[in-house]
Amino acid sequence: MIKNIGIIGAGTMGSGIAQVAATAGCAVKLFDVNQEALDKAKAALEKVLKRLIEKGRIDASEKDRIQANIRYVTALKELAKADLTIEAIVENLEVKKKVFQELETYVSDTAIIASNTSSLSIASIAASLQNPERCIGIHFFNPAPLMKLVEVIPAVQTSQNVLNTCVAEITRWKKVVAIAKDTPGFIVNRVARPFYGEALRMYEEGVANFATIDAAMKSVGGFRMGPFELMDFIGNDVNYTVTETVFNAFYQDPRYKPSFTQQRYSQAGYLGRKSGRGYYDYKNVEADNAF
Ligand code: NAI
Repeated sequence: MIKNIGIIGAGTMGSGIAQVAATAGCAVKLFDVNQEALDKAKAALEKVLKRLIEKGRIDASEKDRIQANIRYVTALKELAKADLTIEAIVENLEVKKKVFQELETYVSDTAIIASNTSSLSIASIAASLQNPERCIGIHFFNPAPLMKLVEVIPAVQTSQNVLNTCVAEITRWKKVVAIAKDTPGFIVNRVARPFYGEALRMYEEGVANFATIDAAMKSVGGFRMGPFELMDFIGNDVNYTVTETVFNAFYQDPRYKPSFTQQRYSQAGYLGRKSGRGYYDYKNVEADNAF
């Protein structure tokens, strides 16, 4: 029975997943090493819920209920009672492994430990645990409260019971689950690589600028966002790292080759909406992922 949820990382994804779990009635503890990230997550949730009230989607008591279900914490130990913890920190295997190993010393023997990684091997993450059968990938899409799809990725070590429990719980959170094998990029991020990669290559070849490519994909292609808008929305650093991981995991298959333009934009801090500038300038636009 899942009641207590731990979330590690209060950034774009962690804060959204916390909202989803709290809305489903779970007691959520949202942990981040950075107090500022927690403050931002709390303020963003306040704004989102107010907007939902204005739209008539929830009432004030529902807002209070959701907010009361989330506690913001700065010590990993606070997640000791979590039945299920979902990690959403930086896309770096070594950093994730370290956090998972520490978490395992606090939680119960039956607690499930999940990663929201976009592209890393769940088997490698699981292998860092004393009990790898409890480890699984639960991959939400951005923005987590709005996107229906969640990929659930069992590693070779994951127990059937852990998989069943997670599928049931995420379904209860009103999401649609796709079970994917533990391969680089899983389903969606693998299919999406050429969407970003080809757009970046076309820009580099001088075929068209960002705005023209985006406009073509939206007006003719029927996409809600063009590739550059979407990369700015996801975060260029996150998107670049995912491409790099998928590229390396497929033995440097040129189909997934990362772009120098995106690498330089990431290095320059042009991360997209979250930093106020990416392929587009967001300084005068409220940079938030809140819906
Ligand atoms: P983000 O950069 O917005 O947030 C990461 C948060 O983790 C930050 O608040 C940071 O302070 C915190 N953090 C870093 N190291 C930590 C540690 N050791 N302990 C606790 N907190 C720590 O990142 P974002 O975009 O939320 O991505 C998180 C994960 O979710 C990554 O694995 C990413 O690949 C995955 N993901 C991202 C999506 C996106 O569209 N941004 C979509 C789906 C998955």
